[in-house]
Amino acid sequence: MRNDADQTPAFDMVLFGGTGDLVMRKLLPSLYQAHAAGLLNKDGRILGLGRKEWDREQYLAYVEEHSRKHIKECFTEADWQQFCDRIEYLRVDAGFPEHFPPLAEKLGEMVPGRSVVCYLSTAPEFFTPICENLAAVGLNHPNVRVVLEKPLGHDLASSNEINDAVAKFFDEHQLYRIDHYLGKESVQNLTAIRFGNALFEPLWRREWVHNVQITISEELGVEGRGGFYDHTGALRDMVQNHLLQLLCIVAMEPPASLEGNAIRDEKLKVLKALRSFDVQDVATKTVRGQYKAGAISGGGVPGYLEEAGIPPTSTTETFVSLKAEIDNWRWAGVPFFLRTGKRMPERLAEIVINFRDVPCPLFPSPVGQTANRLVIRLQPDESIRLYFLAKEPGDTMNLQPAYLNLDFNAMFKVRRADAYERLLLDVIRGRLGLFMRSDELVAAWRWVEPIMHAWEHSTTPPKQYTAGTWGPAASSALLSRDGIAWHEES
Ligand code: BG6
Repeated sequence: MRNDADQTPAFDMVLFGGTGDLVMRKLLPSLYQAHAAGLLNKDGRILGLGRKEWDREQYLAYVEEHSRKHIKECFTEADWQQFCDRIEYLRVDAGFPEHFPPLAEKLGEMVPGRSVVCYLSTAPEFFTPICENLAAVGLNHPNVRVVLEKPLGHDLASSNEINDAVAKFFDEHQLYRIDHYLGKESVQNLTAIRFGNALFEPLWRREWVHNVQITISEELGVEGRGGFYDHTGALRDMVQNHLLQLLCIVAMEPPASLEGNAIRDEKLKVLKALRSFDVQDVATKTVRGQYKAGAISGGGVPGYLEEAGIPPTSTTETFVSLKAEIDNWRWAGVPFFLRTGKRMPERLAEIVINFRDVPCPLFPSPVGQTANRLVIRLQPDESIRLYFLAKEPGDTMNLQPAYLNLDFNAMFKVRRADAYERLLLDVIRGRLGLFMRSDELVAAWRWVEPIMHAWEHSTTPPKQYTAGTWGPAASSALLSRDGIAWHEES
């Protein structure tokens, strides 16, 4: 147990969509971990909301069946029972204004220092009615914070609609737009590596960096989310948010402080400096793919078009790779290659910084091998590997790749909060730094929209790739045109 100073203030966590998948798989397990670690104030309640006419016992039975199994560590029966004591249930249908006065009554008077977090784990079309109905019963009081889950819109116009509607009832500082990648320990570590050490910063620029590669690959397919995924695709699901946020953290200038807006200001500048794509750029600098049947970890898996809920003629992309460029003084001329896909050979999130070669090579070096490369692995394990060339042992001056490895699990043998746990604690404590501001969202949509439109109007279908591979051959060709290769190919 930690001491009380580490604990959150008193809180009410109100979960809209309280019987949904995200609540069961992620939010309740993360809150449990925080509880078991002694980080939740004793006076902290969790209120699941749903449309079902349930009482508390029925909700708890549902939680027992659907959520408990997702707790990965620190499980004890005693902690679980104590945690369940915090949970209550209320029937609230977002579309029914008459369901909100009982919610206000349940939450009681707004006491200074007590935060009320309304987590909107629902489809985005409910965001506006929920906010309106909350405000109508006074639940837009300054103590109230609203967490908005992605997808935050389908394009710029729908995202603006949500932002404008929500802004009618809540101030920007009450809004927490979640991108769970920002809650990952290793993403925060990236900021620490860059700005807590003098070593890398002088090299972190166009003079010394040749190219940057950011990959988020998944072994999973669409996992029963076919209906949602087919309307979304990898560009909206992963690039518009997670990949662009990682790019921002890699590329941003040092912030003036760690205060929320200081970091968000710097990220916004990066998004605004991204060179926009015209139709020709989309044709030459992006690759969209769709998996066909193949094998993952030795087992056969169906193709995307054979998955449940996917129309047989779907042209939705399950893979994207693209070449982004940032037109500012630090990064002009340095390509940022982004890549993500479902049904790839492994689950991996990795940032690779390839440094330039020495100006006049003295030694015979391995062909095609970048001498210096920093590989920041975010998952499944968290590590930082610095590659360089070292002399081969023996009577030779030939060089071979070698590396220094920092494995965070081995180095710091303490429990680390998962992304949702960290972000939930931040909302309760009122820390906005790891959440997206509305102008970031607008800038991100603005950048991906021309790609979305060009693909929508394209007569060329996505390129197929076999499940269990690193994507279509065109993705390798995208890099080879610049004389380079993806990290795993070089
Ligand atoms: C979500 C996407 O935002 O991120 C999913 O909607 C994806 O499609 C998931 O599977 C990946 O997250 P993580 O943390 O498992 O890499």
